[in-house]
Amino acid sequence: IDTAIIIVAAGSGTRLGAGEPKAFVGIDHHSLLRHCLRGVFEAGPAQVIVVAPQDRAGEALAQAYEAAGDRRELVTTVVGGETRQLSVAAGLSRVWPGVDVVLVHDAARSLVPGDMIDRVVAAVRETGHGAIPVLPVVDTLKRVDENRVVGVVDRSELAAAQTPQGFRRDVLDTAYAVSREEYTDDAALVQAAGHPVVAIEGSARGFKITTPADLLRARRIVADAPV
Ligand code: CTP
Ligand code: MG
Repeated sequence: IDTAIIIVAAGSGTRLGAGEPKAFVGIDHHSLLRHCLRGVFEAGPAQVIVVAPQDRAGEALAQAYEAAGDRRELVTTVVGGETRQLSVAAGLSRVWPGVDVVLVHDAARSLVPGDMIDRVVAAVRETGHGAIPVLPVVDTLKRVDENRVVGVVDRSELAAAQTPQGFRRDVLDTAYAVSREEYTDDAALVQAAGHPVVAIEGSARGFKITTPADLLRARRIVADAPV
């Protein structure tokens, strides 16, 4: 096995407000995490590291085993940290020897298809750079200062970043080892450490379930095309 995917699922889901950690909330009869794992096991073979809240590690392992079928030996679980970045670091500490490409994926991007994951791995292997899926920004964007509109932003030079984000394992390890700040995603952390990152075409199914409206959207998608 030369590839690993770290699924970060240790957040509390404050903005969703479902009363339990977000990754364990149901979309249908399956949780966000379980849906995410389905996509991961549709992709090419990889070590699958699920980063879970302390009191949900057993449940995370059970869901991963269920999704893995006869590939249980690929599954590892580990307890996450206070921030997403600490949770990724916890996952990184469990990557097997021999793995040279590592992907980091949000459990909250639960509907990402397996082929999106495969395309990120392929981009890292082809370029040797980090690779992230992005979508064009569709809104008209304004630069504002308090209530005053001070200018326009050319959206053609902007893109919305998704996960999974893929990197060479040595690059990600070093970037995490030297980082002393919080970054909004792994690509920002890797770029701050001086490494290039390429953008590839994202997926409409790669949106992040953050608010109740996002969960409703995911429920509608799953109900229209049951899995
Ligand atoms: N995450 C994590 N560990 C943390 C914080 C976040 O593993 N300490 C994970 C979440 O489980 C999620 C992903 O990082 O899959 C993206 O984070 P976000 O959507 O912000 O999830 P939460 O932090 O759980 O939600 P909120 O910010 O609304 O509390
Ligand atoms: Mg959060």
